Amino acid sequence: MADLKLGVLISGRGSNLQALIDACAAADFPAEISLVISNVADVQGLERAREAGIQTLVIDHNEFTSRVSFEEAITSALETHEIRLICLAGFMRLLTRSFVERWRDQIINIHPSLLPAFKGLHTHERVLNAGVRITGCTVHFVRSEMDEGPIIAQAAVPVGDGDTPDSLAERVLHIEHRIYPLAVRLIAEGKARVASEVVPYVVLQAPDATLVSPAD
Ligand code: GRF
Repeated sequence: MADLKLGVLISGRGSNLQALIDACAAADFPAEISLVISNVADVQGLERAREAGIQTLVIDHNEFTSRVSFEEAITSALETHEIRLICLAGFMRLLTRSFVERWRDQIINIHPSLLPAFKGLHTHERVLNAGVRITGCTVHFVRSEMDEGPIIAQAAVPVGDGDTPDSLAERVLHIEHRIYPLAVRLIAEGKARVASEVVPYVVLQAPDATLVSPAD
């Protein structure tokens, strides 16, 4: 079967993009990145894509008079490249309902918390302020409400004594790089589909590992 064509939307560093690039480099990975779009010029993510020989495009939202025309330009580029799955990877623009509906169940996002907890920005700071013991990250299908949508994959990270937003961000990011390619693989293999607004469980291994924090 042909590889699933991915379009990755970024606004910055692109470390999750890099994780997807690395995953796609494996011969048996069922997806390929056909296009990377950034709404900001000169970001590190664009550099990463170019180094991997992937076509890049800068679509700067400032050059459009409306959110809708900005998104039309994105849709048109994605259609030209026959993209089947859009991966948001640190893309810092909110998407309109009409864009999300155009690409319904074909857009996924990664968020650095265990959704539905801690939607929005400054996640790690808020996690620390709330005193939670376990945080993590989530890959989910995108809906028009921010950080909402059927969950595909999650990973948990214990919050440690002396953690700062930066130290937590680093540990969570590390595991983001594992679950984003995993989620893409599950979709490409037809194992992660939306049904009644959830993604039914895929059993990869027995779900018997319990994370307790602090460890007992
Ligand atoms: C990641 O923490 C991701 O979860 C969030 O934005 C950050 C992007 O980082 N949505 P990078 O650009 O992939 O390095």
